[in-house]
Amino acid sequence: MTKLLLLLAFTSAFMVLSASAGNVVCYFASWTIYRPDNGKYTALDVDPNLCTHILYAFVGLGEDGSVRVLDDWELTGLDEMNHLMSLKEQNPNLKIILSMGGWNEGSQKYSAVAASPGLRQAMVQSVLAFVDQYGFDGFDLDWEYPCQRGGVDEDKANFITLLGELKAPLNEKGLILSAAVSGGIASCELSYDIPGVSENLDMINVMVYDFHGAFESFVGHYAPLYASSLDATDEQKTLNVAAGIEYWLDQGADPKKINIGLGTYGRGFALADPNNSSLYAATYGGSEAGPYTRAMGVIGYNEVCELYSSWEYTWDDEQQVPHIQNGNQWLGYDDEKSIQLKVEYANSKGLGGAMVWSLDTDDFRGICGNGPYPILTTINKYLN
Ligand SMILES: *[C@@H]1O[C@H](CO)[C@@H](O)[C@H](O)[C@H]1NC(C)=O
Ligand SMILES: *[C@@H]1O[C@H](CO)[C@@H](O)[C@H](O)[C@H]1NC(C)=O
Repeated sequence: MTKLLLLLAFTSAFMVLSASAGNVVCYFASWTIYRPDNGKYTALDVDPNLCTHILYAFVGLGEDGSVRVLDDWELTGLDEMNHLMSLKEQNPNLKIILSMGGWNEGSQKYSAVAASPGLRQAMVQSVLAFVDQYGFDGFDLDWEYPCQRGGVDEDKANFITLLGELKAPLNEKGLILSAAVSGGIASCELSYDIPGVSENLDMINVMVYDFHGAFESFVGHYAPLYASSLDATDEQKTLNVAAGIEYWLDQGADPKKINIGLGTYGRGFALADPNNSSLYAATYGGSEAGPYTRAMGVIGYNEVCELYSSWEYTWDDEQQVPHIQNGNQWLGYDDEKSIQLKVEYANSKGLGGAMVWSLDTDDFRGICGNGPYPILTTINKYLN
């Protein structure tokens, strides 16, 4: 009897483990603690059982190669670092990773540090000390991007050298190294030696989103799964999730290291003609800012489902993603249905898992009626 119970306990524990084997890598964007009302998001709002890895975004890089805290008030004044680390008491398997970089950090400092053996060593030592001080389980580098935005051609090789010098001592301590990389093929061609990137990382988080947005002057979904028949040029046909992931695979990245990038947000436009909302129709800049995310041209899934549920919903059968429209306002985003399809696509390619940007714009309060964190829950439900 006891043996049978033990066997049953063992089998069910094994089933739980194998059912959740995929990575669910969640970015925690620390500045969202300053958002108003229902948009305010803190480390104590994180559900520690919906992610395998939480990436604290972001710290910066000093010109001397040191880790630079970008917001000391948030980190220590509001005690968010300790709140974040305390999540491990609820889920001992949870890994919490320090993430450095992001769009606003630019590329220039990273380019200079990667080019110098001395500065690279200073960076490695500073990262190891910082990670050790707070008890992180690894380090994530979001250099956007080598060879671009003030970088130089040599960045492509220096990026690999830097990753290698970070990975060896981290792995020696049982810690992991990941990076966020571009999912746009033209950008990847400039920035990466893909076999080298794959070899020198434990996880590759491919940002297959932001293919379109208010930085252009026409309608386009920020992260279509597939191309549209209205995509005419060779470049237009590559600006989608499947093309980006297939490129990384074709160039020799290890599929098990790749996490497919998924968004809990969207991007929107003011249509030039409210009667024409088709792909490539003219726009006059970004959509109006939402009350929580407070940025023109960007919207959270929580804002879409809580505040704009009465807008006209359209599912694009070719691109396999939704958008909503109200007058001249057009918002393309991901919902439970498109996230399920992207996760099933990742499964079909044998990928390691999913990366999510970011926790704070899921419906984390469960206001919209499908329970808290409907996007994260969908990812966990469908990921192999
Ligand atoms: C949009 O179409 C409607 C109905 O066909 C028409 O009444 C309206 O004038 C059009 N608006 C614009 C801006 O063209
Ligand atoms: C909408 O805009 C697109 C892109 O400019 C154009 O090709 C198409 O003819 C327009 N459709 C309508 C109904 O005006």
